[in-house]
Formats: sequence, C-alpha cells, structure tokens
Amino acid sequence: MARRIVVGITGASGAVYARRVIQTLAAAGCEVHLTVSSLGRRLLFDELGLKRLDPEALSGGRDELVTIYNDNDVGAAIASGSFLHQGMVIVPCSSNTLGALAAGVTDNLLKRAAAVTLKERRPLILAHRETPVSYVDICNMKRLSEGGAIIAPLAPGFYLGPGSIDDLVDFMTGRILDLLGVEHDLDVRWAQTLQKVSPRP
Ligand SMILES: Cc1cc2nc3c(=O)[nH]c(=O)nc-3n(C[C@H](O)[C@H](O)[C@H](O)COP(=O)(O)O)c2cc1C
Repeated sequence: MARRIVVGITGASGAVYARRVIQTLAAAGCEVHLTVSSLGRRLLFDELGLKRLDPEALSGGRDELVTIYNDNDVGAAIASGSFLHQGMVIVPCSSNTLGALAAGVTDNLLKRAAAVTLKERRPLILAHRETPVSYVDICNMKRLSEGGAIIAPLAPGFYLGPGSIDDLVDFMTGRILDLLGVEHDLDVRWAQTLQKVSPRP
C-alpha cells in the first residue's frame, strides 16, 4: 500500500511550515491527503500569497500525490477509520482546533479526521502555534497528550546554526517527518552537526 499521510492546516500563523511539510512528504513519495479549515485557507492566501488552493500550489511538482478535500464534507474518505494511513499532522495547529479536539468536537473534516486518527491509535502530531500559551491551552495539550497525540510546538532550534528562514522551516519540517516515521534528507540532526564541527580523526 502507498504510504499515506493526512495533513490538516488551520488558521494559525505559519502557512510556510504547512507548504514545506507537504512538499517534503510528496518528495518522499507519500500520498498527502489534505484538508484546510476556513481560517487556514485565509492564512495560506495571506502568508504565502496563494491565489487558489490546489495541489500545484503546495506539492512542489508532485501534484499527483496531493488530494485536497472540502473541509465541510465530514463524509469524505479521511473521516473514516477504514481509510488506512500512517498518521496525521495538523500544521500549523490553532488553539481553537486544539481546544475542540481536547473536547471531542468534530464539526469539520479536519477535526473529524484528527479524532479518528486518535481513536484508531495512529500518530497524530499537533504543530501548535501561539504565544504565550494560556492555561487553557496547556490543559488541552495535557489532555490530548494523555489521549495519544504528540504536541510539537512550532519552535525551531537554533543549535544547527540556521542561516535563513528556510533553514528554520526545514528544522521543524524534518522533526515533523521524523515523528511521522517518514525518511527525509533535511539537516536536523545534532549528531551530524557535531561531526561537521569536530570531525573524528
Ligand atoms: C491573521 C491571523 C493570524 C492568526 N494567528 C493565530 C495563531 O498563530 N494561533 C492561533 O491559535 N490562532 C490564530 N489566529 C486565530 C484563528 O484563526 C482563529 O482562532 C480561528 O477560529 C481558527 O479556526 P480553525 O482552528 O478552524 O482554523 C489567527 C487569526 C488571524 C486572522
């Protein structure tokens, strides 16, 4: 079976992370099954300057691997546990969607697909973006973490010496693919950096 990953984009800042995650998954040969909340669509358009939402705009040339669903259609394939996949990432994940998932609310396809991912005990990565985080967010993260989700805040490290925004985006992208178990060649490994700085004799 083809490797399938479900991706959700919500209305938190950081659309650039979403595009890079989709491109990197597609470059690795994964089918990407994408749903975008209404505010997620707005942020994609505002932050990336997209004119329309289609695979071409996000896939990095692998359009055939990206399927985009209507987020109002809670009867789409990814809403069902019988749709087999290897995990889901919500990137960026808003506090609104975080809270809804913690409360078991599934009023759009994105939330339904995430709730199904949890109930099927598949990896669910929540790449949350908000700062500061409120006490309510922290409680919601705790509840979801106890329920099996992985909370992966969009907080790139600086220890690899990033030289550009792209490096910071790639850092988070690589960590997300690691969590999904998808191989990639982005430079996110501390050990690799140590070898570069002090090569062994
Ligand atoms: C320009 C803009 C930036 C936003 N950035 C964030 C953010 O970084 N984090 C967040 O949790 N919400 C952010 N919001 C608020 C969410 O979009 C809002 O809570 C919305 O209801 C989220 O809906 P969704 O979870 O269905 O996408 C932002 C809204 C706008 C208009």
